[in-house]
Amino acid sequence: MATQNEGTAAMTGMRPWYDIEPYNGKVVDCGTFVNSVARPVESLNGRWNHALDQYNVFFKKQWWTDEDRQRFRKEAKFPYDYSFNDWPEIDVPSTINTAVPEAKYFEGAVEYTRKFNYRKHADGERVFLKIGAAHHRSAAFVNGHYLGQHLGGFTPHYMEITDLLDLHNRIIVAVDTSRNNLYIPTPLTDWFNYGGLYRDVELIRVPATFIRDYFVRLVPGSDFRKVAIDVVVNGAQKADVQVEIAELGVKTTVSVDSSGRGQAVIDCQPQLWSPDAPTLYDVVLTCGTDRVADRIGLREIRVEGLDILLNGEKIWLRGICCHEDHPQRGRTLTEDDVRTNFALAKELNCNFMRLAHYPHHERSARIADEMGLLLWEEIPVYWDVAFGSPDTLADARNQLSELIRRDRNRASVIIWSVGNENLDTDERLAFMGNLAGLAHELDDSRLVSAACLIHNDRFDDRLIEHLDVIGMNEYYGWYSPDFEKMLDLEKDSLPDKPVIITETGGGALSGHHGTKDTMWTEEFQAEIYRKQTEYVPQLKSVRGLSPWILYDFRAPFRLNRYQQGYNRKGLLNPDRTYRKQAFYVLRDFYGRLAGEKPA
Ligand code: GCU
Repeated sequence: MATQNEGTAAMTGMRPWYDIEPYNGKVVDCGTFVNSVARPVESLNGRWNHALDQYNVFFKKQWWTDEDRQRFRKEAKFPYDYSFNDWPEIDVPSTINTAVPEAKYFEGAVEYTRKFNYRKHADGERVFLKIGAAHHRSAAFVNGHYLGQHLGGFTPHYMEITDLLDLHNRIIVAVDTSRNNLYIPTPLTDWFNYGGLYRDVELIRVPATFIRDYFVRLVPGSDFRKVAIDVVVNGAQKADVQVEIAELGVKTTVSVDSSGRGQAVIDCQPQLWSPDAPTLYDVVLTCGTDRVADRIGLREIRVEGLDILLNGEKIWLRGICCHEDHPQRGRTLTEDDVRTNFALAKELNCNFMRLAHYPHHERSARIADEMGLLLWEEIPVYWDVAFGSPDTLADARNQLSELIRRDRNRASVIIWSVGNENLDTDERLAFMGNLAGLAHELDDSRLVSAACLIHNDRFDDRLIEHLDVIGMNEYYGWYSPDFEKMLDLEKDSLPDKPVIITETGGGALSGHHGTKDTMWTEEFQAEIYRKQTEYVPQLKSVRGLSPWILYDFRAPFRLNRYQQGYNRKGLLNPDRTYRKQAFYVLRDFYGRLAGEKPA
């Protein structure tokens, strides 16, 4: 427990809560991952009590020990400054900035707490607490025990609570929504910093020995005839894993070593997953009494020269970018919101989406698996990051690892992106080259990219050597008025690998009309799209386009009369009820492309 002077030091802001005892001794990271996306779970979502704790007193006074209350109950009355059950109620999941109107611009600690009952279902049962995401740094507590802290606001983390549970229990999750320059992302982002306990909180019950992780994919270059299955078993009695894919007549055993890890490669000829035929197979893994049943698509993505090949066929990616943002719900999108977004992409004749600039909810990739959309997923190494800081690199590596472990069984995900629009410096090259290497190490079946900047109208970002596909953000017609320079891009810098235009476009206020030369009108935005869709096909190295962005989204520094706190480059307005003229320009362009086979 923090001593008084440490507490005082912390109280005076000398050292942040996460750097003092006991918090700094227990970090929850990708090493605690439990692949639960296909497991039955018990939701702890619902009405919780919460407190906006501007001075982080919860951490400094260690309210979570509830010792004050204990003393109070046992000894003479004395004042204490919290009462969990009397704190105002709030929905979990939700972003604090939308759930509590007076907290719209709040950045600091928010404590969430609720009680729950637990009854053991089976002898030897183990229980894990899963926090789907808490932005940006969080600490969890059950029944007065500190479980650990997690850094990174977009990916799940897991903590075992088996031995801490009683019939009646209290959970507390304290979320520090503030960011700093050493974090990923930094405080300067062109999106609103929604914070809080904004994704699902769940309990996962598993047997004493269980399947902690698995990875099932087509072996690249195997002529679509081999499937690799990696498993990780956790528990005292490590046991082999049986895997069955009934529709393929596959029934095999994956032997595991003393660490619980194992791999098997099996021969089979699956119906390959693609956007036009999103075939998913029931994959059932069993180990002792543990059973996991997932639905997994099998497909191959690779590059050959300037081409991207999906299942051996050249593909041209007809995409659109998308933020997780909603006028009422902030970043806590519902399943319907995601399905609406993906249906709008399909209406645009898209086969591809760039989920910017951070890991979206895990349901996004599962829905894309079903609907047949290829995905670019990304960690928020965004703009000017502390590329020289080892702690920042560790944070980025952990977020990338948590993303890849979470989604690598999703056929829809074809590209891992290690960042966006970072100036080409030596430190950045080392930092993002390191991340690209980690992505290749964790997943041999996908492409690695990043959204790079164009320097002096040329493709000359040194990071390109680490990437399989070059993401390129260009704004000819908006930030770069001279459209003609776009056709010079390849003049003396023709890349030797495929390029995806990962951002382009311009701003327009819905319903604001004028001539095609009047900035911020729909006509001006539509003219940019008309020219982009005329020029992009003339670039020999481009194999995909993903304009910025499907719908307008909250952006704190966008403050002119047309923006009013929103980035207006959307093809739709913020609540997706209005399609701007440019929507139809892109839809028709992609419709023509969809009708043609790629060159
Ligand atoms: C950049 C950046 C986006 C931003 C966009 C814009 O390309 O990647 O996050 O919103 O520009 O200026 O609108």
